[in-house]
Amino acid sequence: MRAVVISEYGVLPEIREVAEPAVADGSVVLKVEATGLCRSDWHGWMGHDSDIVLPHVPGHELAGTIAAVGAGVSGWAVGDRVTTPFICACGACEQCLEGNQQVCPNQLQPGFNYWGSFAEYVAVPYAAVNLVRLPDDMDFATAAGLGCRFATSFRAVHQVGQVVAGERVAVFGCGGVGLSAVMIATALGAEVIAIDTNPEALHLAREYGAAHTIHASADTVAQIHDLGGAHVTIDALGSNDVVQQALQALRPRGRHVQIGLLPQGVQLDVGRLIGQELTWLGSHGMPAHAYPEMLALVATGNLNPQHLITRTIPLEQTPAALAALTNGTPAGVTIITP
Ligand SMILES: NC(=O)c1ccc[n+]([C@@H]2O[C@H](COP(=O)([O-])OP(=O)(O)OC[C@H]3O[C@@H](n4cnc5c(N)ncnc54)[C@H](O)[C@@H]3O)[C@@H](O)[C@H]2O)c1
Ligand SMILES: [Zn+2]
Ligand SMILES: [Zn+2]
Repeated sequence: MRAVVISEYGVLPEIREVAEPAVADGSVVLKVEATGLCRSDWHGWMGHDSDIVLPHVPGHELAGTIAAVGAGVSGWAVGDRVTTPFICACGACEQCLEGNQQVCPNQLQPGFNYWGSFAEYVAVPYAAVNLVRLPDDMDFATAAGLGCRFATSFRAVHQVGQVVAGERVAVFGCGGVGLSAVMIATALGAEVIAIDTNPEALHLAREYGAAHTIHASADTVAQIHDLGGAHVTIDALGSNDVVQQALQALRPRGRHVQIGLLPQGVQLDVGRLIGQELTWLGSHGMPAHAYPEMLALVATGNLNPQHLITRTIPLEQTPAALAALTNGTPAGVTIITP
């Protein structure tokens, strides 16, 4: 099969012929129909993820049709249309049994722990726990986006941030994660403040429901306070500067949700966290069992993840698109069709 292969961190990946994944017990192999390009793929390519072993095939935000079913997998057949959370949980550990598959210690992530979906085929381990059946009327490109960024934002805004109607939510960074967060928080009735350096991204944020947009500058925090301060801030970029601004922009007792990765770590003003009773919340993916609530909101048209897709590219253009993330992000979500 054809796949995007990283042989060296930070060096342009190549399209190469590689062996198709074998179907292991308890797993399925999918024919990849669509897969999203997420900044986490860029972090992996840059060498920020210690789980990756070279040579490597990235890609973790995917939808496809089942091409092979491993021994012990029941209820799934060749041809079924599916997606999976990028965190493929084991289903058997204490965290999984408590319903928190997103922090399963045995989790396997396609495109990080093993070869991912920037290829014609990809394996999904622990299929019984992780496969999500696609509604008949959902296309593969839309479904691919649910595997990482949209679902991650759904959990971050709804389950972790517990955003409710009437709250002001400041979303820092309006890429795939941030625009999803804008759309989801708006659907929950929040007043969304979207912040980005890219005017095109802010234009899309307005389209997806942001009540206010702020071009990121030294003045961002003051502008958020002019609007009354934020009940909830979301770092949808992964930046020390953004974290500091977000904590300054919160109202007393506000909640900060961290989605963006911070490979270099971050220093927190703990005195401020205590004195203002601020809450720092990490958020990681979303388990498969939480998808039905999100899919129901898509079915009723309250959420429209398909509107986030601005670009569809073939596998051949993927190495260049991945490398281009070094210089910034094109507005909206990029989907690859291998
Ligand atoms: N926690 C999780 O489970 C999880 C899941 C998916 C992605 N992530 C992480 O979330 C982050 C966002 O991913 P993405 O794919 O949406 O990234 P992206 O690159 O598509 O989006 C980043 C956005 O931030 C904007 N930006 C740049 N500098 C800025 C600044 N100073 N202030 C405000 N905005 C600025 C960019 O213009 C862009 O629109 C990444 O770190 C990614 O690795 C985490
Ligand atoms: Zn587990
Ligand atoms: Zn991702």
